[in-house]
Amino acid sequence: MKNLNELLDLSGQTAVVTGGSRGIGLGIAYRLAEAGANVLIASVHQGEVDEAVAQLKEKGWKAAGVVADVSREEDVQKMVVAAKENFGSLDVMVNNAGIFPNQPLLDMSAENFQKVIDVNLKGVYLCTRHAAKQMIEQGHGGKIINITSIDALHPSMVGLAHYDASKHGVWGFTKNTALELSRHNIWVNAVAPGGVATPGVVEMNKPAEGAAPQDEAAKAAAAKSLDAFMAKIPMHRMGEPDDIGKVVLFLASDMSSYITGSQIVVDGGALLG
Ligand SMILES: NC(=O)c1ccc[n+]([C@@H]2O[C@H](COP(=O)([O-])OP(=O)(O)OC[C@H]3O[C@@H](n4cnc5c(N)ncnc54)[C@H](O)[C@@H]3O)[C@@H](O)[C@H]2O)c1
Repeated sequence: MKNLNELLDLSGQTAVVTGGSRGIGLGIAYRLAEAGANVLIASVHQGEVDEAVAQLKEKGWKAAGVVADVSREEDVQKMVVAAKENFGSLDVMVNNAGIFPNQPLLDMSAENFQKVIDVNLKGVYLCTRHAAKQMIEQGHGGKIINITSIDALHPSMVGLAHYDASKHGVWGFTKNTALELSRHNIWVNAVAPGGVATPGVVEMNKPAEGAAPQDEAAKAAAAKSLDAFMAKIPMHRMGEPDDIGKVVLFLASDMSSYITGSQIVVDGGALLG
């Protein structure tokens, strides 16, 4: 039987974290790198990726970066190649990249809807498929961890219909791929955060590109909606990226050896409200 240190040790394994350059993704990258994994950060902004990689390396951990848009298949293929070229394998795939523009349904164009589905749902499909192919080729299994949301189970606020559709989709996709990939010793699970303080949350109330500017009433309604959400959290605080990072480490490690097709809710009790 492995001791506790061995169970949490990811030395020699390579983890790819999409959207790992800030927010929840960076929190995840920190814990996986601390546990000894080689971490490849894949995100859309070169400057952010470089900065995040430098932060991890400063700690003495192993990290590299690649600019990749998860909604583009050629970028996802490039990401898998980057994992192999930098570290020789891909063992843990964390599908964290996601967008959540606040848009009431009546202002939501077909393009707005499609964009959220492309990044949040198609991106998870592309990364899962290409990572799984690589893991199967390596022949010793792997872990796929999808960052969903409490919105995969229950809406948190008005203005996220496209987001909720995408996250419900990722939860269904998680269960079906867990079923299909278990024969290759690939475990697929999801982590569903509640409200977590990240740069993305700060930006979410800004009107989307191309959308009509919000009037004062719409802004007030959005703020009220956020206040109402906060008031419902039994732990009386927003989550921090590390609250999610610790749970992803659990799922990436041998601590979760008998778990697949599950979703762990990490929300300070928000869904109880
Ligand atoms: N923060 C929350 O309250 C919260 C709650 C529930 C779920 N989540 C989920 O957690 C994940 C991370 O959220 P966050 O709050 O850290 O967001 P964030 O906006 O702070 O960070 C998201 C990261 O993803 C990257 N990204 C965006 N589009 C991308 C694309 N097409 N390809 C690759 N990278 C892309 C961004 O550059 C950024 O680095 C998302 O999937 C989000 O839905 C967040």
